[in-house]
Amino acid sequence: MRMTDNTVLITGGTSGIGRALAEAFHDRGNRVIVTGRRQDMLDEITLGRPGITGLYLDLNDAVSLARAASSVRARFPRLNVLIANAGISRNEDMTTEDWDTAEAEAMVQTNIVGVLRAVAAFLPILKQQSLSTIMATSSALAFLPRADFPTYCATKSFLHSWLTSLRHQLSKTSVDVLELSPPYVQTELTGAAQAVDSRAMPLAAYISAVMAMLEQGDHPRGELLLERDQARRWAERDGTYDRIFATLNPA
Ligand SMILES: NC(=O)c1ccc[n+]([C@@H]2O[C@H](COP(=O)([O-])OP(=O)(O)OC[C@H]3O[C@@H](n4cnc5c(N)ncnc54)[C@H](OP(=O)(O)O)[C@@H]3O)[C@@H](O)[C@H]2O)c1
Repeated sequence: MRMTDNTVLITGGTSGIGRALAEAFHDRGNRVIVTGRRQDMLDEITLGRPGITGLYLDLNDAVSLARAASSVRARFPRLNVLIANAGISRNEDMTTEDWDTAEAEAMVQTNIVGVLRAVAAFLPILKQQSLSTIMATSSALAFLPRADFPTYCATKSFLHSWLTSLRHQLSKTSVDVLELSPPYVQTELTGAAQAVDSRAMPLAAYISAVMAMLEQGDHPRGELLLERDQARRWAERDGTYDRIFATLNPA
């Protein structure tokens, strides 16, 4: 994808990977719109970075999405990059007596329905441009699950499959489709402890790796995956699935 002079909208742009991508794209001379529900974070980002626009968006609220899409159509008719990045993650223990589907339904709603809704809302604008990109954030866990995050991993597997079909359907249009599959990264996705977990990749290092892959066009089949996660991606093909699953999920 072109790395400058884009108009980029990022869902889940108020923190973590989305915010860091927003800043990286802004640094490279792009117009950037960050969206999310936390108005205080939108204010903090736009105050610190004149040139980034903040827009309230709750993906679970159809009215909020319709408002945001109509505002973007009026204010940013050249929107050509959508980064559908918003997501939530919860662990679930299905062996407990009180396990129910509330957390699972919330993840399906945000991680799956939220991405579909964002793409549906902005695709008509993207299609009008000569060169557009949809990049959605899946996960390295899409290819091989952590069993303590069953629904979370399954939502990301859904995205992997769905994005493959979307890419195929849009292949004769001006819209490219990319899948960003992060490893475990230092953000507050699962709570404050993750942001300082030494087993997680530092956020700045991950974002520089992503920007380098984008700059070099290093994303075979539209997939942005770090070298170290290729083993999970190809575990079924390589006959290593059971072994890697067992390492990731000790008995
Ligand atoms: N960090 C990792 O280890 C990791 C690994 C693989 C994949 N990922 C994926 O990366 C993406 C970003 O996560 P992160 O790690 O950067 O965590 P994060 O800091 O918690 O970011 C999540 C973002 O999603 C937004 N969001 C959540 N629910 C929303 C809703 N209903 N409507 C609109 N926005 C919503 C949040 O904004 P508001 O709260 O302001 O709405 C926030 O900006 C997620 O899709 C996650 O699954 C992360």
